[in-house]
Amino acid sequence: MSPTDPSAEHLPASPPDLTGDPADLPGEPGASESGELTEDTAGARPLLAGEQVRLEDHKGRKHLVTLEPGKTFHTHRGGIVLDDLIGQPEGVVVKSTGGVPYLALRPLLSDYVLAMPRGAAVVYPKDTAQILVAADVFPGAHVVEAGAGSGSLTCALLRAVGPEGRVSSYERRDDFAAIARRNVERFFGGPQPTWDLTVGDVVSAPTRPRVDRIVLDMLAPWECVDWAAQALVPGGVLCCYVATTTQLARTVETARAHGGFTEPQASETMVRTWHVEGLAVRPDHRMIGHTGFLVTTRRLAPGVSAPGRRRRPAPGAYGENYDGPRPAGQQVD
Ligand SMILES: C[S@@+](CC[C@H](N)C(=O)[O-])C[C@H]1O[C@@H](n2cnc3c(N)ncnc32)[C@H](O)[C@@H]1O
Repeated sequence: MSPTDPSAEHLPASPPDLTGDPADLPGEPGASESGELTEDTAGARPLLAGEQVRLEDHKGRKHLVTLEPGKTFHTHRGGIVLDDLIGQPEGVVVKSTGGVPYLALRPLLSDYVLAMPRGAAVVYPKDTAQILVAADVFPGAHVVEAGAGSGSLTCALLRAVGPEGRVSSYERRDDFAAIARRNVERFFGGPQPTWDLTVGDVVSAPTRPRVDRIVLDMLAPWECVDWAAQALVPGGVLCCYVATTTQLARTVETARAHGGFTEPQASETMVRTWHVEGLAVRPDHRMIGHTGFLVTTRRLAPGVSAPGRRRRPAPGAYGENYDGPRPAGQQVD
């Protein structure tokens, strides 16, 4: 497959069922097993009308529901009267009219991004966590991100840079940019003063003032390496998230051949959940298989070239069949 084949966009595994729209249903109101806010729940933020809540049944099936006063959320096991939840602390249990208990919690960011409307494929939460660490996104950092896609990674970046930081997102498709804006503003409850979103190609983004971190989640990040070299502060991190090995190799070789970056690091992240029950302790049968790879590298000071590699390339690595970018001084071996 060519690295520019559109099918190379990363495909996150199917998200859990976290969707659902409240429906007006006639019928008995659901019964709440929770008490009122007491001393024990002091400090808890009561669930408010208009907020989203995650309802989970005893089989672990989850629904993301907006708390609309006067509405009932319909499940195949009866309706849940949403007024029963408004004003309650998180962690309460409500019963549907069919008698099925549902645990109510505010959605985590990982719940939210898997349930939110998508244009482009989102960065999967396990990779988001790794990106924040690999790119070393810190409070107060100025991060440039492209493409914004559905805004999943944007939400995590905005949280990580905090109120003193800045995230500048670029998305070349205006329909995806609109989805990203809606998703981000819904998550934070309104426009974010620390966020700007530009419809356009990231390589046309200004290179001054220089930025601390660049995170690229797109088909062809190697096309942005020259721009990233101009836009990053010395020591700044470039982190690219790609779906295929061909994209991975081309990104690494382009950054290496540029000469103004440290030796690129490539990785993938596998998270295996476990079943833990008495003596039955084992990995779960299913896991998220492939999502994507990360390539990280750091900008050297202007005019400085990367020190020579300590190890010789593997025999044939840059042989006559290799037709990608070559590190300086690396001839056909
Ligand atoms: C996989 S999606 C990004 C998903 C996003 N990170 C998220 O978590 O929701 C890739 C996006 O990059 C955009 N894109 C590709 N090349 C770009 C470029 N050079 N500048 C800006 N956006 C670009 C595409 O339009 C697409 O929406």
